[in-house]
Amino acid sequence: VGLGGGCTTDLAGFAAATYMRGVPWVAVPTSLVGQVDAAIGGKTAVDLPGGKNLVGAFHWPARVVIDPGTLETLPEQELRNGMAEVVKTGLLMGSPVWEQPLAELVRRCAAFKAGVCIADPHDRGPRNQLNLGHTFGHALEAAAGYDLPHGQAVALGMVAALQLSGNDEALESVRQQLDPQPVRVDRDAAWAALARDKKTVGGTPRLVLLERNGAPTWGNEVPAADVRAALDSLISD
Ligand SMILES: NC(=O)c1ccc[n+]([C@@H]2O[C@H](COP(=O)([O-])OP(=O)(O)OC[C@H]3O[C@@H](n4cnc5c(N)ncnc54)[C@H](O)[C@@H]3O)[C@@H](O)[C@H]2O)c1
Ligand SMILES: [Zn+2]
Repeated sequence: VGLGGGCTTDLAGFAAATYMRGVPWVAVPTSLVGQVDAAIGGKTAVDLPGGKNLVGAFHWPARVVIDPGTLETLPEQELRNGMAEVVKTGLLMGSPVWEQPLAELVRRCAAFKAGVCIADPHDRGPRNQLNLGHTFGHALEAAAGYDLPHGQAVALGMVAALQLSGNDEALESVRQQLDPQPVRVDRDAAWAALARDKKTVGGTPRLVLLERNGAPTWGNEVPAADVRAALDSLISD
């Protein structure tokens, strides 16, 4: 049983995937990120000095037990990290799930992620949508030497992705709910990290876009110059 935040459930799940070539495990996520994202979907991984999630396995938990009551002791910053994924989920669902009370939004976001993952257990199609804002977000995190909260990076990443999508309504929701502020990182380092993204093919990034709330598209080839301009707009001097 992995009881804790996303780091704990990822590590527990990875250990369970490899011990004796795999034993069943149960996830009991106690952070908002864990309850709406990390503990759901069967992906388990640990980071190496060379990069995030470099060692991992698909190993679905036998059960995920979520008690939103555990969030009462979660630090404010960790709640904000989770809210970035909640807003992302609401935009993908096409419903302002962030307006719900905490226990209810956890239930709806967890159900949504579980549904997407069950339909695409090996990450070959619809699951891509869950990366909305993450190509930019991961690039900023790498350029910041991972000294940037994931939620803040994803909130900024969603601003770029939604600008490229021409979705002003969703942009307004992200600004109101998450108030993302540009970060000071090296522009060239951020761009280099984005170009290394697994989804970049032949120098052209493939992005998740959301022209209309509730109707994400993925694998979109966006001209590198437009992507770089959007990335630059997230960075302050
Ligand atoms: N497997 C996946 O699909 C997936 C998806 C998203 C994120 N992740 C991984 O999840 C990790 C991030 O998860 P996280 O944001 O939960 O970080 P975390 O596990 O580091 O937890 C954040 C902090 O909150 C503390 N904490 C957790 N629950 C608490 C509670 N109830 N009360 C007080 N403090 C509590 C933790 O001790 C930690 O200090 C990353 O490693 C990321 O790669 C995995
Ligand atoms: Zn995320």
